[in-house]
Amino acid sequence: MIARRLFTACLLLLLFSGCAASSGSTLLVPAPGTHRFPYFDTETPVWSYNGRIPGPLIRAKAGTTLTVEVHNQLAEPTSIHWHGLRIDNAMDGVPGVTQDPIQPGDRFTYRLRLEEAGTYWYHPHLNTGEQLERGLKGVLVVEERRPLPWSQDLVWLLDDWRLQRDGTIFPHFNTHHDLMHDGRWGNVVTVNGQVAPEVVVAPGERVRLRMVNGANARIFAPQIEGLSATVIAVDGRPVSRPFPHGRLPLSPGNRIDLDITIPADAAGSTYRVIDRATRRTTALAEIRVRAAPPVATPVFDPPLAAGFLPAARFADAPVVKTWDLDAIRGGAFGIGWSMNRQLWPDADTLALEIGKPVKIQFVNRSTRLHPMHIHGAFFRVLTVNGESAVEPFTRDTVLVGPRETIVVGLVPEHGGIWMAHCHIQAHADSGMMTTITVE
Ligand code: C2O
Ligand code: CU
Repeated sequence: MIARRLFTACLLLLLFSGCAASSGSTLLVPAPGTHRFPYFDTETPVWSYNGRIPGPLIRAKAGTTLTVEVHNQLAEPTSIHWHGLRIDNAMDGVPGVTQDPIQPGDRFTYRLRLEEAGTYWYHPHLNTGEQLERGLKGVLVVEERRPLPWSQDLVWLLDDWRLQRDGTIFPHFNTHHDLMHDGRWGNVVTVNGQVAPEVVVAPGERVRLRMVNGANARIFAPQIEGLSATVIAVDGRPVSRPFPHGRLPLSPGNRIDLDITIPADAAGSTYRVIDRATRRTTALAEIRVRAAPPVATPVFDPPLAAGFLPAARFADAPVVKTWDLDAIRGGAFGIGWSMNRQLWPDADTLALEIGKPVKIQFVNRSTRLHPMHIHGAFFRVLTVNGESAVEPFTRDTVLVGPRETIVVGLVPEHGGIWMAHCHIQAHADSGMMTTITVE
């Protein structure tokens, strides 16, 4: 027992270790498992990493190398993509593009050189609509080289599930309905796998709250009733100037980091966190303040955007690509979501040069939603429908609304073949995916 505790302690130490020279290592085992949801008196069969929903929260330090060994115990091939990380292309986890699929029973080792601190997440990149929906996802937090004295660092992975009356996951993916609409929206919303969990804080605490949208398709717009929160990072990178948290939508793939101070006189209060993305609001979580004397609020500046990408850098940059987003007939499901009328894998690559600023234009010809994501890079939104719409932050995923046109600016920094796709999985699985080749 003690030996086992010691072992666990060492493992944790390894994962959370503060020394910049050290490197962490971890094992992820995707396998069939079960998870308990309320409402049903049965365990729901899921696919999970290490038997956990969501997968283990991995924490590692910027400047270190994280080694993740994956041992596939699913009955089908898989891979792991590190959403938002700008890493060696060979570690990006895209079968058929950057690696071979990890076959059942096989192992693969990812070596991730963590350059920038931030909130990232990981998920499969093969049969993604199904693997993601069945539960394969987790959060990767890359901590600052110099830790900041937050009272708590909370991580919430937002998700939804389409469960049947008997508590099992609705087993049809990329259905005609999902394809005709904005993908697969579930009927049970969870935070870290739990329905409306309660989080306990103390009066006076200064909390960093990292939210990740890991759903297949649902857009979230989380709102904390009665508490003011400041946005300090979007999609893993610090904002250029913190701003009050309003209704910034979190589309699949997006992350947001909030800086929240619990008022000193809030002892005994409860704050509801609700989702306001749709007309019907949904409870996400509750923040309960302990009935206790206040703690001293830590005073410090949140991390700032190092080397922020100024919008002015794109003043003379050419639009190197326009991607028309629309549905066409054809493909594996009869309806294919396309980019320039091409369905992945029959798609032309976009060639870009390292260090050269370019603009890319997304034109949504449809009335559906397309959260467009680019691997291995971050970009700035420049215009929406021709009007300047410069945001005080960079992104790796931007929601292109019905009939909307969005121009983004990007400076490729890492060579390789990087995916660009819609993060509504039914859309991506049906063809809305292409590549950018950076040389
Ligand atoms: Cu979350 Cu291809 O990405
Ligand atoms: Cu889409």
